Amino acid sequence: MGYRKLFYASNALLLAGFAWAFLKDHNAEWKPYQSNFNRMTAGELDKRAAAEPDPQKAAALRVQAADWRRRPLEIKQIIVGGLDRYDRCITCHAGMDEYSNPTLKTPFAENPYKGHPKIDEALAKAHPFTKFGCTVCHQGQGLATTAEAAHGWVKHWERPMLKGTHIQASCVKCHGDFETLRGAEAAALGKKVFERQGCQGCHAINGVGGAVSVDLGDIADKPLERIAGYNFKRVRIDGKELPEESWNIQNWILGHLTNDPAEVTPNDPMARYNAEPIAPSAMPDFRQEISRREADAVTAYLSGLTKEELIPSRWYVPGPRPREPRFADAAAHGRYVFRKYGCQGCHGLDAKVGRRRFNALGPGQNKLADGATEEALMAEMEKGLEPTLPDVVGTYTHEELVKKIENGVPLAAMDLFHPKGPVPAMYMPPWKDKISKAELDDLSTWLLSIAKKDDSGF
Ligand code: HEC
Ligand code: HEC
Ligand code: HEC
Ligand code: HEC
Ligand code: HEC
Repeated sequence: MGYRKLFYASNALLLAGFAWAFLKDHNAEWKPYQSNFNRMTAGELDKRAAAEPDPQKAAALRVQAADWRRRPLEIKQIIVGGLDRYDRCITCHAGMDEYSNPTLKTPFAENPYKGHPKIDEALAKAHPFTKFGCTVCHQGQGLATTAEAAHGWVKHWERPMLKGTHIQASCVKCHGDFETLRGAEAAALGKKVFERQGCQGCHAINGVGGAVSVDLGDIADKPLERIAGYNFKRVRIDGKELPEESWNIQNWILGHLTNDPAEVTPNDPMARYNAEPIAPSAMPDFRQEISRREADAVTAYLSGLTKEELIPSRWYVPGPRPREPRFADAAAHGRYVFRKYGCQGCHGLDAKVGRRRFNALGPGQNKLADGATEEALMAEMEKGLEPTLPDVVGTYTHEELVKKIENGVPLAAMDLFHPKGPVPAMYMPPWKDKISKAELDDLSTWLLSIAKKDDSGF
């Protein structure tokens, strides 16, 4: 090919490129939304002008309407200095642009033409959008100008727009006072449910709580690649599998509460890891104790736990110092201590029935004959439970019980149902450095007060 031909060919290519870029921009998804908004707003102003008895006021409204019709279409963005965010949401959600619409109200009932809800509850007043932008609360992709990408419903976008009550995760990020904050009721409920169920017995939050499983203090930051893809395929929400664009941390948390975790993270007791069999997730199945609404609340709460550099101190509202309630007697305080440290996470609500513990030797298991199939052994292993404390604490003196709780029981000291099966992932953590002596005394007093009395008269 001669140089001249190459020159023509490359010019033609360049032109085609320009034409494509021009058309693509011309057909940009956001443009019809913005022009509709301008046209609809102009229409409203004309309607008001027609109903206006004062001719001078009517004329002014018509001028405003004409002004809206002439507005050039443009990409609009809110730059949030200090948070390093560029939010273009108002390019489509034009009624939420505080510059052109300071009241943030519109007469339109559809997104993206709606005004912003809850302004009357001081939401926008306390967080002017010109200063906060949108994604600090909503997540999503600030820079994107297509709805799908902006809302973050795309594969591998780590911070998809928070749906429904999950948006209250954002309140948790900035408000140390979220437990009493207007508008953060779901997140506050989530924290209550977390503590009620004893999640803190296994999961610390920023080092406070049990160290049996992962610290959830930065669960919102967990990269999806650290959650094996095949596990998401096992998650069911409202009985349905999740489409790949909904594989996100909110659904991972929710999925742990709306499924049996042993099915979400089954591992494989028949497989081997470093030559050892692996037990399935030791996290209890909470479906009988946590309603769907509460599961969403816990998700809102946990999704706000982040180490994101999002929150320089000037965006953060500190909370009150926690206060310990007062109790009538030692036993009542002991029951509170039991809940506070999450003993119920393993020993059951109010210590009534121990929770599942894979391959632990316990009551209710059938001895199996030699040569029983692996399947039969598995089924029996699954019946293992954590101790039901009222059945066992009667054999302890007060001091022995305090010692037992202080020292815990390491994995190596456990009795297995099936010697070749996996070692139960759960053990009794030592509480020595976590619970004060005074608390331990009262805890022991309460546990002894609920000990089952032996019928035989001893
Ligand atoms: C290209 C236009 C466009 C952009 C950009 C855009 N949106 Fe939207 N948004 C829409 C449309 C259209 C709807 C209504 C249909 C829907 O829900 O997808 C909507 C709906 C919503 C809803 C309601 C969702 C629901 O399920 O009820 C929220 C919240 C929202 N957008 C927030 C945002 C935020 C935050 C941003 C910026 C990160 C943003 N949007 C950027 C077009 C856009
Ligand atoms: C301080 C936090 C906060 C900020 C900042 C914020 N929002 Fe919201 N937004 C909320 C809350 C809370 C809701 C209500 C959620 C609910 O109760 O359903 C909401 C609701 C919405 C909805 C859904 C409206 C509906 O009823 O369908 C849209 C759309 C939306 N916001 C867009 C935006 C856009 C665009 C911005 C930026 C200009 C923005 N928001 C800034 C907290 C915020
Ligand atoms: C980026 C951080 C940030 C996020 C996210 C955020 N807030 Fe705020 N909020 C603030 C700051 C800072 C103030 C204090 C404003 C002031 O005192 O001038 C405030 C003030 C408030 C106030 C008024 C003061 C009060 O304590 O009564 C309310 C109500 C409020 N926020 C509710 C919410 C709710 C609900 C959410 C979640 C939907 C939320 N905020 C999300 C930073 C944030
Ligand atoms: C008996 C101990 C135990 C209790 C109690 C417990 N968990 Fe777990 N949890 C685990 C273990 C072990 C894992 C890791 C295996 C898995 O993913 O299921 C886990 C995993 C998780 C994960 C996924 C973490 C990640 O990084 O992938 C979340 C979220 C979670 N738990 C939330 C909760 C909540 C909420 C509660 C209380 C309602 C709770 N857990 C109670 C043991 C426990
Ligand atoms: C991560 C799960 C877990 C948590 C949280 C936990 N325990 Fe345990 N606990 C166990 C296991 C497993 C055993 C049984 C060890 C064995 O097989 O000997 C046990 C044993 C005990 C025993 C001895 C029971 C017996 O059979 O003699 C007492 C008492 C006890 N726990 C009290 C507590 C108290 C009080 C708390 C809260 C401060 C607590 N546990 C928190 C898992 C847990």
